[in-house]
Amino acid sequence: MTFSRDFPDGFLWGAATASYQIEGAVDEDGRSPSIWDTFSRTPGKVLGGDTGDVACDHYHRVDQDVAIMRELGLDAYRFSIAWPRILPGGTGAVNQRGIDFYSRLVDTLLDNGIRPFVTLYHWDLPQVLDDRGGWLNRNVADWFSEYASVTVAALGDRVKNWTTLNEPWCSSFLSYALGVHAPGHHDPVEGLVAAHHLLLAHGRAVPVIREQCEGAEVSITLNPTRVFGPQDEEGNDIGDDADADAVRRADNIYNGVFFKPLFAGRYPDGFLEDTAHLTDHGYIQDGDFAEISRPLDNLGVNNYFPTRVRAARDGEEGTPALPGMERVAEVAPRPPHTAMGWEVNARAHYEILLRSAQESGLPIYVTENGSAWDDEVSPDGAVHDPERVDYLHGHLGAAADAIADGADIRGYFAWSLLDNFEWALGYSKRFGIVYVDYETQERIIKDSGKEYARIIRAGR
Ligand code: FCB
Repeated sequence: MTFSRDFPDGFLWGAATASYQIEGAVDEDGRSPSIWDTFSRTPGKVLGGDTGDVACDHYHRVDQDVAIMRELGLDAYRFSIAWPRILPGGTGAVNQRGIDFYSRLVDTLLDNGIRPFVTLYHWDLPQVLDDRGGWLNRNVADWFSEYASVTVAALGDRVKNWTTLNEPWCSSFLSYALGVHAPGHHDPVEGLVAAHHLLLAHGRAVPVIREQCEGAEVSITLNPTRVFGPQDEEGNDIGDDADADAVRRADNIYNGVFFKPLFAGRYPDGFLEDTAHLTDHGYIQDGDFAEISRPLDNLGVNNYFPTRVRAARDGEEGTPALPGMERVAEVAPRPPHTAMGWEVNARAHYEILLRSAQESGLPIYVTENGSAWDDEVSPDGAVHDPERVDYLHGHLGAAADAIADGADIRGYFAWSLLDNFEWALGYSKRFGIVYVDYETQERIIKDSGKEYARIIRAGR
């Protein structure tokens, strides 16, 4: 199948990565440990005991990796900065060698005509700050602003696209309530507190970024998900009132909890009531929403799959690990699904893009989208990944449909440029459009990478 859809002039074609997932070099040039170093070294937390110690060794392979981006024809590259490389103490003394690494990366990108999109926080909090309470300590908003100020001051002459946080849902609920990500806590109220402090840190950093960077485009990346209740084979809703309430609660905890504070200056309807049996929400202070809802220039959307829920029935367990979800049961994805077990559903991607545009009123970048499959190097030396090609076509088509229906989508970043450390699943899941042999660090552009390059060329 050939893919040919029109995208607006100036549409940016990119690929994305994150610091801990690709860099390696965890104790080089003055970097201090992050919460992911601690977590991945804790037995039982990451599949196979994998760590980011070496990862894709990108720290030593910037030239090679940028050359691959150029070969693919990328307009833009989204990467994140490791806070513990810039401020090994979390706050205070600046580590010039950390700045130098990213400065050289930025220069190399620009020399190759590739626009850098920088995310300040993609989950690798300095361990020293976790020792002081991490995202549960309200002071983290100031710590983050300090880090943002230093980093943007160093790179803001060349980098204009700044994203504060990647997927605060994951760094709050998945990390503090569900325990799946670092620091691996299991407390629903901590999830709420961390989410609020992430929002506050984001909002407080917005004017700091603008101050340090003339012409900055400031953003946050969320991971909203289309929430479905019970449906029949044709996709018609068949749930009752209890199911509708389950959908409402799930939509609040997955989507509204970030959309509404950022873009409406409040928590979503019912959210504080639904969680009032757990906490008095004393972590919300006067003036917080004014900071949190400061105007942004665009919104980043990471989306891979929809979510399916229904009301928990008599005696059945809901999802008590998530606040307000005690009576909500998560339902298995519909086929087909990826190697992650994630439902492939391009229509749901289209719907969440339109919703994100409506909620925010902002231009949108798809800052991550992609799929994991069980890739292998074939005897012919290539990596044939037809499922990833199909997924790419389907989801790019969904983005084109969303643009046609009014969403101002300005670019698409494939997740990921490279196979990499997939968090709690270690190296077992491959998302790259470029294959990485972790023994030799050889890179092989997969069929999907070649197809992406073809689509990019055709679009010009
Ligand atoms: C997202 C993360 C990214 C990657 C993909 C598969 O939630 O932002 O780092 O792990 O999922």
